[in-house]
Amino acid sequence: MSDADTQTMTIGDKQYPVRHGSVGPAVTDIRKLYAQTGMFTYDPGFTSTASCESTLTYIDGDEGVLLHRGYPIGQLAEQSSFMEVAYLLLNHELPSAAELDKFTYTISRHTMLHEQLAQFYRGFRRDAHPMAIMCGVVGALSAFYHDSTDIADPHQRMIASHRLIAKMPTIAAMAYKYSVGQPFLYPDNSLSYTGNFLRMTFGVPAEPYEVNPVVERALDRIFILHADHEQNASTSTVRLAGSSGANPFACIAAGIACLWGPAHGGANEAALNMLREIGTPDRIPEYIARAKDKNDPFRLMGFGHRVYKNYDPRATVMQKTVREVFDSLGVSDPVFETALQLEEIALKDEYFAEKKLFPNVDFYSGVILSAIGFPTTMFTALFALARTVGWVAQWNEMISDPEQKIGRPRQLYTGPTQRDYVPVGER
Ligand code: ACO
Repeated sequence: MSDADTQTMTIGDKQYPVRHGSVGPAVTDIRKLYAQTGMFTYDPGFTSTASCESTLTYIDGDEGVLLHRGYPIGQLAEQSSFMEVAYLLLNHELPSAAELDKFTYTISRHTMLHEQLAQFYRGFRRDAHPMAIMCGVVGALSAFYHDSTDIADPHQRMIASHRLIAKMPTIAAMAYKYSVGQPFLYPDNSLSYTGNFLRMTFGVPAEPYEVNPVVERALDRIFILHADHEQNASTSTVRLAGSSGANPFACIAAGIACLWGPAHGGANEAALNMLREIGTPDRIPEYIARAKDKNDPFRLMGFGHRVYKNYDPRATVMQKTVREVFDSLGVSDPVFETALQLEEIALKDEYFAEKKLFPNVDFYSGVILSAIGFPTTMFTALFALARTVGWVAQWNEMISDPEQKIGRPRQLYTGPTQRDYVPVGER
């Protein structure tokens, strides 16, 4: 037994065991705190609270490190594929060539939606935000796939996971098609996961669609960069929803709802809108001043992160990918120049340095997605598509964890103490 195993933390006159992970900060196991002291801990935003044990993803925010099952995100983004990362997250290890082929084939066999779901889309207004449609349609999957909602059965859990990963591109592409008034396209399983999504989004039945390999690779890389990010708000939402035994489709719908917010997945849409609003580099100082002004609620979107207090490693890959896509498509966008200069100016500014605010993954992703042809409203839907892999992997991990309990935070109550009801006529 090492010293680490016997370490404890003393709170009052009680000792609490300290547990060490394979890397990263240790945790104090305070599960008995309330029973032994009658006190809770107070931690809004869970800034100091580990809500679970996990083997999926490790982040060192100070050093700008992101590992999936130990593999650095830069290596995965450069050398692997989204399908391979999905396999890794779901199955602990990288696949052999045969395992990857089998997994890719399995996913491709689940890309179609129940035909009746197309009717469901028609209930939405044409101007519905794709995320509104995604929340509804993904939640509705539980009404169509009853044979994969028994969460106690590992086989059903895996089928539900495959279904969700496979159907998300179809669901997202259909949300887009519905908004532009074009017919839905059925999946083409001869294409890659990402190529198929591009075709279902930008293809039309009247013409053949040729997938641009550079765009396909760039989008696949974006999917890899968004696949998982340990216990972020939407993943914690999925875990919390799943902790009550809710079915996987309902849990992922909950994750999509949480991801929608501008402080989380909605930030790439907000970042691009902000860059367009800035318009030209000469207006950057005005926006920097606003971001620093305590009386102005404006924040530099795509900057800052709860965990990264250094350059987000995903932003590095993203910035490189913008150039590749622009070169391949032969396009340029002044918004990229504005982004580069904004980053340079902000990084030299004392305010951002002192608060350790660096570009996050969303700062450049919108620029690429816009160049590919996605409207800003689709950005968060693409994030949801990719993050589904992390959500289902985390959800499976939670259900298999013998220590899992229904999530039930406590509170510091500051409302009125008990008082007697006064009938309305006497108030
Ligand atoms: N622009 C200006 N100031 C900022 C920014 C920003 N983007 N982000 C944080 N700050 C300031 C805050 O005003 C605060 O200042 P104070 O200490 O003087 O009050 C300080 O930095 C700390 O900010 P918090 O909001 O307390 O930090 P938190 O960890 O809670 O927030 C968050 C992280 C929500 C991501 C924040 O940085 C933000 O709002 N960024 C913009 C939105 C964004 O890009 N979100 C994407 C996150 S990545 C993702 O979801 C994939």
